[in-house]
Amino acid sequence: MKQQRLARIVSVGSSVPERIVTNKDLEQFLDTSDDWITSRTGIRQRHLFAKGEEAKLGDLGGKAAAAALASAGCSAQDIDGIICATFSPDCFFPSTACRIQQFIGNENACAFDVSAACAGFVYALSIADAMIASGRCNRMLVVGAEITSRTVDWTDRSTCVLFGDAAGAVLLEANEGSNRGILSTYLNSNGTLGDILCLPAVGEKRFMKMNGNEVYKHAVRLMGEATEICLAKAGFGFDKVDLLIPHQANIRIINAMAKHMNLPREKVVTNLDKYGNTSSASIPLALEEAWKDGRIKDDTVAVFTALGGGLVWGSAVVRF
Ligand code: ACO
Repeated sequence: MKQQRLARIVSVGSSVPERIVTNKDLEQFLDTSDDWITSRTGIRQRHLFAKGEEAKLGDLGGKAAAAALASAGCSAQDIDGIICATFSPDCFFPSTACRIQQFIGNENACAFDVSAACAGFVYALSIADAMIASGRCNRMLVVGAEITSRTVDWTDRSTCVLFGDAAGAVLLEANEGSNRGILSTYLNSNGTLGDILCLPAVGEKRFMKMNGNEVYKHAVRLMGEATEICLAKAGFGFDKVDLLIPHQANIRIINAMAKHMNLPREKVVTNLDKYGNTSSASIPLALEEAWKDGRIKDDTVAVFTALGGGLVWGSAVVRF
């Protein structure tokens, strides 16, 4: 019988700006406190480009992509597809994916961006999975890259304290020799809930706006549902999950999900205390940390799940 063609995650890489901004630093210019931010979100610090610093998303994403390639010992010329998830591009076109292609020195891959806010990485991963499974591509980079600091109003304490700048990338390869790879994905969206979290592209106030309480409520419910459906598609229940690697938005959302799935603390990967919410970069950033810590082993089953402005949400089940 012909072996199923799976997309396997073979490596991960990341890049963050050097500058660290702690909650105490934010207290200097905002009516906020370390205690409020830590207790409500779990975030203690974030990496941010400085105001006025020349920051290019293509370079940030390119560094993460180059790190994933180096980690796998793979040449940029071997890549035949690049997808970048972002809501904070340098320009509408060329796409950030094309800038990343330029950065790594590749001239023969298809490259395009995906707009799915904080769920962007899961969306891009699902598209890449389908492109590899169909035989359209053999080796792809999926990158989540954000300079969130250019999208928030630095006088709005209810949003600006939450976010960080970062990029994360995974290298996917076609695998026909084993059952290791992306086992299932699930995506969904509900445009009628678009107003609770949005970032205008035109007008004078081009800043993120959010109804935090509403987002919180939907995030817990919809990421839980997506995870359950995605695991069922892979033929698994919660008990088969070795690691939950959720979008890093808020520790309370993550804890509520872990409780719903009956997962002990050691099976849940979190690093939002160090990076804040880095949107589409947050899952690969957390994955990299888990991989470096030795928590990703052969045959580890991990679930990614995320929700973002749209609303858009989804999950992926992966066997490493
Ligand atoms: N520092 C101090 N006080 C603050 C701050 C701040 N940074 N921000 C808001 N407050 C105040 C509010 O003004 C309000 O004051 P009031 O009672 O005098 O009116 C009070 O704190 C409570 O505000 P709430 O919005 O009710 O606080 P809540 O406990 O809901 O926490 C939070 C807000 C952290 C945003 C929470 O709703 C949340 O995490 N929601 C999820 C949203 C999210 O993570 N979005 C990220 C993008 S989407 C995603 O990635 C899933």
